[in-house]
Amino acid sequence: MMLTWKEEYSIGIEIIDEQHKHLFEIGNQAYELLKNELRVDKYDDVVQILEDLRQYTKFHFQTEETYMLKINSDQLPIQKIEHAEFIKKIFNIDFRSLDANTNKHLNEILFFILNWILDHVLHKDKLIAQR
Ligand SMILES: [Fe+2]
Repeated sequence: MMLTWKEEYSIGIEIIDEQHKHLFEIGNQAYELLKNELRVDKYDDVVQILEDLRQYTKFHFQTEETYMLKINSDQLPIQKIEHAEFIKKIFNIDFRSLDANTNKHLNEILFFILNWILDHVLHKDKLIAQR
């Protein structure tokens, strides 16, 4: 499931839409790696993708929360909780517990990343523009 941007995904706030497009790009890197059966050792790539996602998500959530604060959105408290939960989740993924046969576990991480990006962009953020 390659992530392809469609206009209907737009929430009408340009800065946030642009950031969602970038999240799709990170998601597509995860997807490419997920389906790449020739790559024997995915460990380093998964670490890199996860690191990109961690940094970018923190930045992105800040943008969203600042925007919601500005328009006095009643979505801010619930979004803040969800954002914090997700940040905790992706920062808690522990690579040290992986053994030699890591691909299955790495694929689970990639799948999780992909699903979250889709859910976040397509469902959770639809309400951001509401006051
Ligand atoms: Fe978002």
